[in-house]
Amino acid sequence: MKDFPILRRSMRGGKRLTYLDSGATSQKPQSVIDAQSTFYAEKNAAVHRGAHLLAEEADAAYEGARKIVANFIGAEIDEVVFTKSATESINAIAYSFSNSGAGSRFSLKPGDSIVVTEMEHHANLIPWQQLARRTGATLKWIPVTQEGRLDYSTLDHLVDSSTKVLAFTHQSNVLGTINDVAQLVAAAKKVGALTVLDACQSVPHFAVDVKSLGVDFLAFSGHKTLGPTGIGILWGRAELLDAMEPYLYGGSMIESVTMESATWAPAPRKFEAGVPNMAGAVGFGAALEYLNSLGMENVHAWEQELTQYALDKFSELKGVTVIGPKDAIDRGAVISFTVEGIHPHDVGQVLDQHGIAVRTGHHCAWPLMKKYGITGTTRASFYIYNTLADIDTLVAGVISAQEYFKVI
Ligand code: ALA
Repeated sequence: MKDFPILRRSMRGGKRLTYLDSGATSQKPQSVIDAQSTFYAEKNAAVHRGAHLLAEEADAAYEGARKIVANFIGAEIDEVVFTKSATESINAIAYSFSNSGAGSRFSLKPGDSIVVTEMEHHANLIPWQQLARRTGATLKWIPVTQEGRLDYSTLDHLVDSSTKVLAFTHQSNVLGTINDVAQLVAAAKKVGALTVLDACQSVPHFAVDVKSLGVDFLAFSGHKTLGPTGIGILWGRAELLDAMEPYLYGGSMIESVTMESATWAPAPRKFEAGVPNMAGAVGFGAALEYLNSLGMENVHAWEQELTQYALDKFSELKGVTVIGPKDAIDRGAVISFTVEGIHPHDVGQVLDQHGIAVRTGHHCAWPLMKKYGITGTTRASFYIYNTLADIDTLVAGVISAQEYFKVI
């Protein structure tokens, strides 16, 4: 696609780039690259502290980006916190919880439980493991069925009066499965648990509205959403952010300071200690404007078409197994597969010879690999700039790997 300069470069042997690794990180349109460099070239100054024109303009650009993010996910502006990544956003929630004093609605203790799912990537698993370790709470998880869906029949038994947090992914980065947020939120609400939605693989791909989803917190990253690296979003309901303790302390997040103590600025400032990634936020704003210009309905519809086409093509391949749902219903544009007789890294290497970029391995979701009794998969993940021809190229690449390793 003409807006993405990297897609014009050639790969090994002069092959054209077939980029199928957007689940790991998306490519950036020229408008995002320009927005970042224009910020540095024309507006660079530390936000929230200067008394000069540059600081004023930097401030307006940074806060303008916050407004774009808020509009994109249907949030209030003060509910949007800039972090460095979705990983930091989820850790922020977990650390804010353990910084809360005993008796607060965020404090956990032995006898309490945190519930996650078996399909989480490490960023939405390990912070909760560690919170459980720090507080003595118990970690539980909703199992995944062989088909790659959550086993919702376990909800009543797993989410009970001991549950304080239910953290789950909107869309699996390995299986493509889109989870039933309404059902999970209802289960959490019934017992008064807080919900944390990992939206890393959903916000880039379809319209997400925090209010209609009914979750309490949501995290996603800039770099998977056409934006720069080093910028992430933590969204939380205003009354929760107001009541929560910070997780990083320092400049910009305070209201007043003495030698002995300090008080905090209102959210979102109290969660943004230090000089933030201003250029990253501005670049991210440009990324969301780019997606707005396409329309998220169109983004989703195109990815559905790509997914169905890929699933159909893969079903015709001998010796190839797709891990995850086999139809495009409630399923995003991620195809993870194994090839009989070939290690995923070897598949990836052959594909690379054809200019095809995929991810291989455990995809930061090791427990899910164990569940399926495999060490890893080859994963193709699609985005707006992919075409049906890219899928044909991938399928031809897989067949050529099978031929090279003489497994067909
Ligand atoms: N960023 C990781 C991925 O590639 C989790 O899916």
